[in-house]
Amino acid sequence: MIEINKISKWYGDFQVLTDCSTRINKGEVVVVCGPSGSGKSTLIKCVNALEPFQQGDIIVDGISVADPKTNLPKLRSRVGMVFQHFELFPHLSITENLTLAQMKVMGRSKEEASQKGLAYLDRVGLKAHAHKFPGQLSGGQQQRVAIARALSMDPIAMLFDEPTSALDPEMVNEVLDVMVELAQEGMTMMCVTHEMGFARRVANRVIFMDKGQIVEDCAKEAFFGNVEARSERAQQFLSKILQH
Ligand SMILES: Nc1ncnc2c1ncn2[C@@H]1O[C@H](COP(=O)(O)OP(=O)(O)O)[C@@H](O)[C@H]1O
Ligand SMILES: [Mg+2]
Repeated sequence: MIEINKISKWYGDFQVLTDCSTRINKGEVVVVCGPSGSGKSTLIKCVNALEPFQQGDIIVDGISVADPKTNLPKLRSRVGMVFQHFELFPHLSITENLTLAQMKVMGRSKEEASQKGLAYLDRVGLKAHAHKFPGQLSGGQQQRVAIARALSMDPIAMLFDEPTSALDPEMVNEVLDVMVELAQEGMTMMCVTHEMGFARRVANRVIFMDKGQIVEDCAKEAFFGNVEARSERAQQFLSKILQH
């Protein structure tokens, strides 16, 4: 579904990604972890063309992101993205947040968009909040709305960039539960997260990044089960985040 081939990217003189390659098959869940500043967000943004890259290519469902002929807005509309800070429109109701892109980008009627959006809002357990504004919801609820919004676009894959790291601890699980359900339903997912419980439960593979490189890309069982075989950098990182 997603094929990342030898991606390199620079911000001016600074090389943020170096020769990154991996692939995510249909229905696979891949967790991306690594220290702050290692390039995780940049890599995931390259997948739906929110960031340009200078070398390599990414193929999403057979479509080249680097090909100048590719319709990038259309490609982006097919890959759901969920950010750390939800990015809901504060001045729009939850229903309007759920329907705007469906109508603008996909050309759906208001009725069709509402029906779809509210069905997903129900799935994330928030049907009763449709008329509210984002500021009236908790962080965990806003993030579930953001997931429902992304799902309303019928994405072929979902990208998550630290979806729970801005949340109070008691709200983390309600968001992870929605993500676990999605994974179990067969959604193709690339998730930047340090929630290793989530990774252990539903990931097929774990990617570890450091200094713009993919240092580890292996099956979950190998990543957690055979720690001695991991690179020193991955071991150091794991020992830090698994200490508590
Ligand atoms: N727009 C930008 N301009 C210049 N440098 C950037 C920009 N965005 C990110 N960086 C740098 O690129 C590196 C990787 O950033 P990022 O992908 O956000 O890392 P991560 O998500 O792993 O924390 C960091 O050193 C960051 O400072
Ligand atoms: Mg990041």
